[in-house]
Amino acid sequence: MKKYNVAVVGATGVVGRKMTEVLQERKIPVENFYPMASKKSAGSKVEFNGKQWTVEELTENSFNKDIDFALFSAGGSTSEKYAPIAAENNVVVIDNSSAWRMDKNVPLVVPEVNAEAALKHNGIIANPNCSTIQAVVALKPIYDNYGIKRIIYSTYQSVSGSGLKGIKDLEEGIKGCEPEFYPVQIAFNCIPHIDVFFENGYSKEELKMINETQKIFDDYDIKITATTVRVPVYYAHSESINVETKKPFDIKDIFRTYDEMKGVVLMDDLDNLIYPTPVEAAGSDEVYVGRIRRDFSIENGLNMWVVADNVRKGAATNAVQIAEYLISQGEFDK
Ligand code: A2P
Repeated sequence: MKKYNVAVVGATGVVGRKMTEVLQERKIPVENFYPMASKKSAGSKVEFNGKQWTVEELTENSFNKDIDFALFSAGGSTSEKYAPIAAENNVVVIDNSSAWRMDKNVPLVVPEVNAEAALKHNGIIANPNCSTIQAVVALKPIYDNYGIKRIIYSTYQSVSGSGLKGIKDLEEGIKGCEPEFYPVQIAFNCIPHIDVFFENGYSKEELKMINETQKIFDDYDIKITATTVRVPVYYAHSESINVETKKPFDIKDIFRTYDEMKGVVLMDDLDNLIYPTPVEAAGSDEVYVGRIRRDFSIENGLNMWVVADNVRKGAATNAVQIAEYLISQGEFDK
């Protein structure tokens, strides 16, 4: 069996470490593994497939070697600079930052929704925002079966979405320390502010959800609005999703669809108090769907509650699934 040479850029970060773990879990056949990070971490070790690999400093020369694909999760400015350098060296980049997501020449891929788009890459493929990924997985059958007119997203996002700094602010905040990363305390609080604000009053996270959903469905007529909120949860994002469909639906069919859908776990049994929560979704690759009910305030309205591990399906797992898809299509055999 062919083995691949793989780099993880940002290998010492929350998502980079998870990418390394998920590559092993999913048994991606890897010959040489290249963990990369900033100068600060150069020389440290990362365990992969039972071997210790030395972290190298990311430089312009890092891709002057035989690498099939590189999973990037080292922030937007690092991706902006180094993803094109990697691509010029024939390394296929799967980038977890927001740097390239809206670029017309860069496919934005969630394998359950638009896997084939990955094959149209020009060296860079973007992994969507964590909140977008879990939302579009849940919305895919609704879109296919009934069409979507409008979506209202309200999110409850965990601190691991901010990387190690976010996790530390919650850990220390619980002990009574002042926040160092978030503008206000995150412990015992909710912050309606993720990423920077724009003049129109939206946060960048909210605009990411809106723009990325349209790009992934390749449908710019869907009307979308979003409110994104950081909550004191370590792992897994939760979302209230309100959808207005084009065609009428039978709620029983929606339950049946999620019950049978690969990649989704239906948790919806109110008599037995069964619904998804972040604690249950953390550590899993599935998207959990529950609290499914008709929105009686409009003709074709649907409410649901969608929970997924933001570091896994929202980032690392989705990136590795894109790599798996490319491997399955013989992308690195050319
Ligand atoms: P390092 O640990 O050496 O700083 P997180 O978002 O969880 O904090 O992780 C960010 C990841 O991105 C880390 O692996 C970090 O490496 C890496 N990183 C940050 N800035 C750079 C950079 N300029 N070049 C390479 N890697 C970077």
